[in-house]
Amino acid sequence: MYQSKIAGLGKYVPENVVTNDDLSKIMDTNDEWITERTGIKERRHIKKGDGNTTAVMGMKAAKIAIERAGISKDDIDLIVFATLSPDYYFPGCGVQVQEMLDIDTCPAIDVRNQCSGFVYALSIADQFIKTGMYKNVLVIGSENHSGGLDFTTRGRSVSVIFGDGAGAAVLTRSDHVSQGILSTHLHSEGKHAMELSLKGPSTMHWVPEIIKENPQGDDIPYYPYMNGQFVFKNAVQRFSEVINEGLEANGLEVKDIDMLIPHQANLRISQFIQKKFRLSDDQVYNNIQRYGNTTAASIPIALTEAWEEGKVKEEDLVVLAAFGSGFTWASAIIKW
Ligand code: ACO
Repeated sequence: MYQSKIAGLGKYVPENVVTNDDLSKIMDTNDEWITERTGIKERRHIKKGDGNTTAVMGMKAAKIAIERAGISKDDIDLIVFATLSPDYYFPGCGVQVQEMLDIDTCPAIDVRNQCSGFVYALSIADQFIKTGMYKNVLVIGSENHSGGLDFTTRGRSVSVIFGDGAGAAVLTRSDHVSQGILSTHLHSEGKHAMELSLKGPSTMHWVPEIIKENPQGDDIPYYPYMNGQFVFKNAVQRFSEVINEGLEANGLEVKDIDMLIPHQANLRISQFIQKKFRLSDDQVYNNIQRYGNTTAASIPIALTEAWEEGKVKEEDLVVLAAFGSGFTWASAIIKW
């Protein structure tokens, strides 16, 4: 068995900042409601003409991660790309990034696990390294939410939450058995799949059919649906379970955590977890205030920033935890 470690991290967010006040000019919302319910003050949105797409942002983050890992793009053995907002139905974003980075013929996998996508992707990368099949794996989480949200009052409970951006990590084979990705823990519960979902366009809801079924434009299935309070209740329960599961699997306790990086779903969810585990402000990293919820990109963006700020250091115990649509949830226990 080999060990894997994160050798390089990178992030990219579009330049265009959209504040709560900006949103209140186009829908019936306000800074107080958004801040109180979600903690979000601003988010980034792709601007028409800025050249960004989900794959392009992923590529930009990946370039930084590869450089920081000190390897060449030709050393990449596998690309794993997590997103719920791919540029196309097909091909996947993984092969697009491969082409953009001019990497020859390594395999590329796209992961469809929404807010848990990055931890799922990390776990896939980790398994390939631990078995010895690959040495360097590029893991990317990237989302273009702004292109597909309902920015009218009808969609306000969802559209104020999400933002665009990308994060990436290079996982590399390591000789130190007690360092790196100690374990990953993955779960899903399909019975709640439609509680946080986007029904169309899809093979069950093609565009002409949607228009025929909704001539007045009501009940539009091509905007996301979220049962907010149900998601909230499940999220706090599953976050706690999967963090505990990871700690127990490694004979660790909550007091051993140096840094918890929760998926940036909602500041209230992160604060609930922090309080439940009695963690100090220094032990939990949040940046949802500046980026909103960037789904598969939220953990790699937060991890990159925490590392850049010196808050994730050699020997630290870092815990990643996520919950999202599917429902899916996951954790990773990392000795830095
Ligand atoms: N601005 C102003 N008012 C709003 C807005 C808005 N943006 N959105 C909804 N409202 C109104 C509603 O219309 C409703 O008005 P009413 O009482 O007159 O009917 C009122 O505010 C309360 O609406 P609720 O939906 O009941 O608000 P709630 O307190 O549940 O907060 C929220 C909504 C923030 C989505 C909450 O349910 C939540 O935090 N859910 C967790 C889900 C989450 O965080 N998802 C993130 C993505 S999923 C993931 O990453 C795991």
